[in-house]
Amino acid sequence: MDKFVIRGGTPLRGEIPTNGAKNSALPALAACLLTEEPVTLHRIPKVRDIATMVQLLHAIGVRIDKKAGPLRIQAQSIANPEAPYDLVKTMRASSLVLGPLVARTGRARVSLPGGCAIGARPINYHLAGLERLGAHIHQEAGYVEARAPEGLRGAAFTFDRVSVTGTEDLIMAAVLAKGETLLENAAREPEVSDLVELLIKMGASIEGAGTSRILIRGVDRLHGAEHAVIPDRIEAGTFLIAGAITGGDLVVTHCEPAHQAALISKLREAGAEVTNAGPGALRVRSDGLKSVDVITEEYPGFATDLQAQFMALMTRAQGIALITETIFENRFMHAPELMRMGANIRLEGRQAIVAGPSPLSGAAVLASDLRASASLVLGALVATGETVIDRVYHIDRGYEKIEEKLARAGADIRRVH
Ligand code: EPU
Repeated sequence: MDKFVIRGGTPLRGEIPTNGAKNSALPALAACLLTEEPVTLHRIPKVRDIATMVQLLHAIGVRIDKKAGPLRIQAQSIANPEAPYDLVKTMRASSLVLGPLVARTGRARVSLPGGCAIGARPINYHLAGLERLGAHIHQEAGYVEARAPEGLRGAAFTFDRVSVTGTEDLIMAAVLAKGETLLENAAREPEVSDLVELLIKMGASIEGAGTSRILIRGVDRLHGAEHAVIPDRIEAGTFLIAGAITGGDLVVTHCEPAHQAALISKLREAGAEVTNAGPGALRVRSDGLKSVDVITEEYPGFATDLQAQFMALMTRAQGIALITETIFENRFMHAPELMRMGANIRLEGRQAIVAGPSPLSGAAVLASDLRASASLVLGALVATGETVIDRVYHIDRGYEKIEEKLARAGADIRRVH
């Protein structure tokens, strides 16, 4: 199992590029199931979750050509509309194939994901929405089977609470349904809008992406298309925090500044200087940080996927920061590990009280999930001495070669096998 060995203390300088968004690439790959024609996707990041989705599409019977550069995906026929437990248990986003499979073939059998490190994360909204669209849902032996032999029918569905992949799954189910579907309290995340852009290129009729009310008019068939996914706002945000925590002067390139508004505002409040550095580039500088409170929210609020990284930042800020996690019920697994490095954090239910600044010192720590691992890397970048982070396969799920990118900006970080 790979580990990272990090020696902290170097301010990051120079440029770090952002990859395409993992959480846009995953639904885009699932969307390829909706047509028998080839779809070409650019900027798909080389991360483990994408490899898992590619494996899943292969198992379903899809042809994927990835010689150089873009991925070319063709779901000419669907041999096996099933997502097996072995793949779903390693990546919950596998349930994104549910909607497109039922829409295309009238049948899907997908393993139920079960709990994960950050919360229970059920898929009940996906199932309730599909039922509303006329699918028969049957659960047995840990699998959910959805059937709509006559095809899906458009309907209205309101999400009890905002769900990103739930919205994406139901949009993909509705694009080939008969008639209109209205999704209310839909997710407004940029990744949802990106998926809608791809589906429109494939011939779908969808209005309202980026708002909480999305109207889909079903069409008979979709066709091939070419699309580049948006930059990864969580990866870019992690690098912005890396620049700020190390007191560096860092330019994060190939990103979409408009998607970073909530983070930029919190970084500025904390005393970091964040400025535009040309198209798709942001520069961050800092010299002394003060504590600020953060509450995670759905987009355009502060992303839960940046909460762990921001907590690492707050361990180095002057004062008391109150961090409230509202999206997932168990997303503070990084806190005890940061405490092992010397952070002063108290957990009270869904709130973390971080008192700073704490001098962090290198320690052996354990990565528990994707974003928690990123926060440990950030802590290690400013800790005295050596930090060894175990189980970095978690970070490889969503960050492409993070150690190489950080090293190019001056970090002392290496991967050991
Ligand atoms: N929820 C339900 N029932 C459902 C669906 C969701 O109760 O059927 C609850 C969840 O348990 C959670 C809340 O609703 O408490 C929001 O969950 P959501 O469905 O929005 O999460 P997701 O779609 O499973 C995506 C990202 C996550 C990100 C969340 C929140 C992808 C592939 N994953 O997950 O990304 O944290 O939205 O923004 O898009 C990550 O990249 O590290 C990651 C975990």
